[in-house]
Amino acid sequence: MEELLKVENICVSFGGLQALSNVSLSVDKGEIYALIGPNGAGKTTLFNVISGFLAPTSGKVFYNGREVQGLPPHKLTPIGISRTFQNIRLLPNVTVLDNVRLGHHIRLKQNMADALFNSRRFREEEEKSIEDAREILRFVGMEKYENEFARNLPYGHQRKVEIARTIATNAELLLFDEPCAGMNSAEKVGLSELILEINKELKRTVFLIEHDMRFVMKLSEEITVLNQGQCIAYGTPEEIQEDPDVIEAYLGVGRKGGQE
Ligand SMILES: Nc1ncnc2c1ncn2[C@@H]1O[C@H](COP(=O)(O)OP(=O)(O)OP(=O)(O)O)[C@@H](O)[C@H]1O
Ligand SMILES: [Mg+2]
Repeated sequence: MEELLKVENICVSFGGLQALSNVSLSVDKGEIYALIGPNGAGKTTLFNVISGFLAPTSGKVFYNGREVQGLPPHKLTPIGISRTFQNIRLLPNVTVLDNVRLGHHIRLKQNMADALFNSRRFREEEEKSIEDAREILRFVGMEKYENEFARNLPYGHQRKVEIARTIATNAELLLFDEPCAGMNSAEKVGLSELILEINKELKRTVFLIEHDMRFVMKLSEEITVLNQGQCIAYGTPEEIQEDPDVIEAYLGVGRKGGQE
């Protein structure tokens, strides 16, 4: 398997708090990989490092063999890394279609002069971005909401729009931070099917954080477990379910049931 993402000895400290200690893992091209662990384990912090929202205190991140730690998000997205947020970050007063087009925008080749003179290329790219966004909305099953303001959508739908935006960036590696938080069980089933389609049909590599164990075990090929900033286990879903350290970490702190 070809390695797409490699995280090597990542450490992050916030003042006196060691949020991540020597975290290493590797995600192969084309797989669905999961990061799990109790609340406060450092999962979102690791996503923040990989997606450029946070520079690690030490350690390295490689994407497609290139060292990328410390690059900002706007540099990482065109290279191929896009994410969703644990607390959804859509523009609330902007339509669903335009929220998705924001993802696309990052790969447009417009320049200021084109925009000012409303050149043919500018108009063509605008039209193309609308078409692409519509197609992605159809793919995630949100096409009938294209003209709604994001804020008017129920939570589960907003999550899908945010996923659509990551698809629109054309990034190969999609990071989803608790994609089924706040969804009911029917929505979760729909979402797991959607993530499989994103992986198989759109050929994107998916790296996700999730508390819902059934969802994780069904979808992922490999799992890393974090606890208090450290990797305590790595393996297939079968291996992880039987790992005594994992059982202890979960039973030790209790589960939060997928809410923010
Ligand atoms: N910007 C920050 N400044 C200070 N401390 C932070 C910051 N971000 C995270 N932390 C702390 O780092 C630790 C790890 O937080 P993180 O959000 O990564 O956990 P998590 O595994 O995503 O938890 P959850 O499952 O609740 O989302 C926590 O103790 C948290 O309070
Ligand atoms: Mg988190």
